[in-house]
This record gives sequence, C-alpha cells and structure tokens, in this order.
Amino acid sequence: MTIAEKEYARTEGMKTVKRINVGLIGFGTVGTGVVRVLKENASVIKDKLGCELVLKRIADRDTTRDRGVKLDEGVLTTDAMDLINDPEISIIIELVGGTGIAKDFIMDAIGSGKHVVTANKALLSTHGKEIFKKASEKGVDIGFEASVGGGIPVIKALREGLAANRIESIYGIINGTANYILSKMTNEGGKFEDVLRRAQEKGYAEADPTYDVEGIDTAHKLAILINLAFGTYIGLKDIYTEGISRINQLDIKFAKEFGYRIKLLAITKSIDGRVEARVHPTMIPANHPLANIDGAFNGIYLKGNAVGPVMLYGMGAGMMPTASAVVADLMDIARNINTGAAHRIPALSYSDSAVREVTIKETDSLEIPYYMRFLAADKPGVLSNISGVLGRHNISISSVIQRDRKIGGSVALVILTHHAVEKELMAALAEIEQMDTIHEKPVYIRIEENLGAAN
Ligand code: NDP
Ligand code: HSE
Repeated sequence: MTIAEKEYARTEGMKTVKRINVGLIGFGTVGTGVVRVLKENASVIKDKLGCELVLKRIADRDTTRDRGVKLDEGVLTTDAMDLINDPEISIIIELVGGTGIAKDFIMDAIGSGKHVVTANKALLSTHGKEIFKKASEKGVDIGFEASVGGGIPVIKALREGLAANRIESIYGIINGTANYILSKMTNEGGKFEDVLRRAQEKGYAEADPTYDVEGIDTAHKLAILINLAFGTYIGLKDIYTEGISRINQLDIKFAKEFGYRIKLLAITKSIDGRVEARVHPTMIPANHPLANIDGAFNGIYLKGNAVGPVMLYGMGAGMMPTASAVVADLMDIARNINTGAAHRIPALSYSDSAVREVTIKETDSLEIPYYMRFLAADKPGVLSNISGVLGRHNISISSVIQRDRKIGGSVALVILTHHAVEKELMAALAEIEQMDTIHEKPVYIRIEENLGAAN
C-alpha cells in the first residue's frame, strides 16, 4: 500500500478535507510541545497545507502522567509498534531520544514506508548514514530540523536557502543549556551547579546533562551541520570536543577585562581542502553578535562564498521552540505527500553519489591566539621563567596581567599570546605545569578574533 493510499479524507460541510495521520513516539518535553502546537495552531496549519494533520496515536512508557494537554480516548498507548504498524499513519515522530530503541523505531518506521521526523541529534550524528540511506531506498522523507538550534530553521537554511553556496565557515552557539549556564555565570555571577539545575527544570537539558556541559551535544549538532555543509558523514569521533566544566568566574572576569566573552562554540572552517571540526569554550570579541547571545538562545554565524555572512538567532531549546521545528517538518512532509514529491530534497541536500569523505584538520596544527591562566607563587622570576618556556616554543606574548594576590601566597597570572601553534602551546603548558612555582593545572582558552571575516 502506498502512502498516498493510506491518506484518507473526511467530509466537512460540502468540502472534502484531506487528512494526514501522524504518530508520536515519546510524550516528554518536546512531545508535549508538539501536541500543543498541533492543537493551538491547527487552523493556521490547515490553512497553509490545505489539509489536516491528525495526531492519531501517541506512544510513551507512561500513559498516566498528566502532561497538561487533553487527548481523545484511545490515543495513548505504551507500545510504539501500534503506531509503526498502523497502515493509516503516514508520518512517525520520534521524540524518545538516545541511540538505542529510538533507532529501531525509526528504521522500522522507514521499513514500513513511513516518513519520519526526529529531533534526535545523538542518533543522526551516529547512525545518520544508515538511516538516510534506508530512507532514500524507500523513497521517504526524514525531517530533522529540531536536531540543531531548537526552533531556528538552520537545517532548512543549509539544505535549501543557501544551497547555491560553498560554505566556508560556521560558528555556532548551539547548546541552549551551556549558553544558559555561561551567560548566567557571566551576567549574574551564578554558580555552575545552581544554574545547571535551573536549565534542567526549564526542560533545556539532555537526559544526561553531561552531554550539554561537556560539549557532546554541541558536537553531535556540529557533525550534522558539517555533513549538510560539506556533503559528508562525519561523527563525534572526528570532532575535537571540550566542555565548559573547567570554566570558572576568574576566567569570565579576565575575559571581560580583555574585551572578550567566553562562549561554547561549535566551529567548522573549510580551508585548502581540510575541514576544521571543533567544539570548545572560546573567547570571542565582546562586540561580535555571537557574544551577546544569552540564556537558552542559540546563534549560528555562517559564511557562504556567494551570500557572505549570515546570522541565525532564536531559542535553541525548550518545549515550544523545538516543537515549532518538529511541526514545520511535518508540514513539509505533508506538502510532499500532497504533491507526490516525497524525497524531493536529499537528506544532506547533496545527491547521494556526491557525498564524499573529507579530511579533518587536527587541532595540533591550529594557529590562533590563546588565553592562559596560571596560579603561580608570588615571587620574583616566575614570569620570566614562564616567558622563557613560551619563547623556546616560539610563542609570543601579547598581554600579561596579574591579579588576586591573596590566594594563599599565590597570584593569578594571565597571559594572552599572539597566533601560536597549538602543538607548541600544549608542549609549553606541560613544561610550565611541572614548575614548583605553579600551584595548579594551567588553564587555557582558545581565542577567535575574526569569526567569519577572514578565513
Ligand atoms: P524527554 O525525556 O522529556 O522525553 C522523552 C519521552 O520518551 C519520555 O516521556 C520517555 O519516557 C519516553 N520514552 C522513552 N522510551 C520510550 C519508549 N521505548 N517508548 C515510548 N516512549 C518512550 O526528552 P525531550 O522531549 O527533552 O527530548 C526528546 C528528543 O528531542 C531527544 O532526542 C532530545 O535530544 C531532543 N531535543 C530536545 C530538546 C529540548 O529542548 N528538550 C531540544 C531539541 C532536541 P520516560 O520519561 O519514562 O523515560
Ligand atoms: N539539551 C539541548 C540544549 C536541547 O540545551 O541545547 C536542544 O537541542
């Protein structure tokens, strides 16, 4: 039975209104938002599509919890296979999360000829190749707008609006939880643990919040952006990943003094046939538009060779913004069903035969400025010993400041470098750490000065 045959119509007055049935697996934060958007915006959605999207069944492990939305009798089930095996359902929304059972649900749904919408960046960055291949073979669509940037239509921008460009660079604040934590610490001096708990209460954090804090979720999303930008399949293992757990108030304060803000950035640049793919706390100039993105907002600053710089901004996490992206995917798929144009746009926008491997540039060969902070003994000769080591590694100093003399006879010593080779910088830090005048592991933060301006 084809998908078109599975759609059916109902009579509304004298008019026949086409209906497309949808099944939702995972009635959690985002799933609840999807139900709300479909209900609250039903009329505008119908006016735009010329047909109704009907949420026929919802599967969740817990069918008793009150989610604050009223459902018809018989909609809820604990068994996702009730939806996947229902011939009247054309689109399955997967909002369970993770790379286990969620993958089985998606593969089974595709196998049954159903279109799929998912927000699952962990899954797509790990098994995207297999999932997209199967969808292509079956001629069904996979919508994944919500997997990066919450409610921001960045996937559509890369797949469609910017399709004519060679993408040169992308700088993204693409984890709402980490940005919420960093901006609360910067603007209100909040404590890391307290702010993380608030982000969890607001529904921004992943089931395992270390994914947010340690940069893993950002790396999952960066992998998806890189795959779309360059027509390839890279994953977590290809991305250098550092989180924000070692950033403290001192670094935030020093960053401000030097005219920077610290952001957890996803960075990719295509230079001379090699692709940079890295996620780490980054000092960026305080007057760059990304520096002023606060709270759970996300921002993506990218550069195409024809269009130049483009900036996308909006809520990167949370129930309703994420649901906005999920329902937009449902509407795209409904339009494709209505016009018989399923799989009109390949998942990565590149035709299957054009998808290729890219060479990832190792971070060792990066050449950028760095911030370093040492907790050093407050006595003569310490700075000259440190600068001696830096000099031997060809690292030149651009500024030095010393503050907070009282910490147990130690002093916070901050050094900013000119462009330095990362391999040399790491070797120098390892040497400096061994000095008995250095009282804790040195902190370093990479600096990006010209985001997207001069690649
Ligand atoms: P939640 O944990 O709130 O929701 C997941 C739901 O799926 C829970 O109700 C869970 O039940 C249920 N579930 C788990 N296993 C099964 C199963 N086998 N069958 C049926 N239901 C099951 O997660 P979110 O809504 O926050 O996230 C969902 C997805 O969206 C994830 O992939 C996440 O990464 C992604 N995402 C989330 C965003 C956000 O802001 N929250 C933003 C963008 C993407 P139980 O509670 O019993 O485990
Ligand atoms: N935990 C994710 C975040 C959800 O905080 O950005 C949105 O993908």
